[in-house]
Amino acid sequence: MHEDLDRYPPFPGRERLLAALDHAVQQPDITLITHTLQQVLREAIADAQIALPACVHEPVADHYARRELYHSPVHGYSVVAMTWGPGQATPLHDHSGLWCVEGVWSGTLQITQYALQAQAGERFQFRAGRGLLAGPGSAGCLIPPHEYHTICNPSPDQIAVSVHVYQRVMQRCTVFLPDPQHPHWYRREIRDLQTDDGPTPARSSTAVIGG
Ligand SMILES: [Fe+2]
Repeated sequence: MHEDLDRYPPFPGRERLLAALDHAVQQPDITLITHTLQQVLREAIADAQIALPACVHEPVADHYARRELYHSPVHGYSVVAMTWGPGQATPLHDHSGLWCVEGVWSGTLQITQYALQAQAGERFQFRAGRGLLAGPGSAGCLIPPHEYHTICNPSPDQIAVSVHVYQRVMQRCTVFLPDPQHPHWYRREIRDLQTDDGPTPARSSTAVIGG
């Protein structure tokens, strides 16, 4: 039995999914952990007995929504569902050195990884990798230091939902924004991350950034 479940929105199959996540994060190394988590997410997405809470299918108008489904007080990991309205996207960002496994529950997301090419003081250059279109049932992972990426819902009219398992609660991350004074360079900002508590944002939303 998991603790503090009443803090999170309930959904069918939750205990079974959390038990599988608990098992996955106890694998002996990061490669096995992230590999096993990807398999758990793929199986969960295909499992008709597991249905995410209704709120995660409700987009928020001015930013993609983040809703925490669980934070394990024993193992430390955090599960966040994200809801992407048409065209909603992250800026280029990192994950504060945390590993993360991401699965697409519905819709399609475009994920582009970036490699850090150069740094000059507070300015950064990146090389974009090939964008990956990830459809329902697909899962991938980000393992530092290969953690720079963007996520976008490229659809003009469809919502996308993804589930992200983080090594720990990610309270902030670094975003990299194009530097208008230096073409091809980015400047960085530290952003605190927020969650949305339901269909209507419970907290006013300053930018919620960092998938
Ligand atoms: Fe991300």
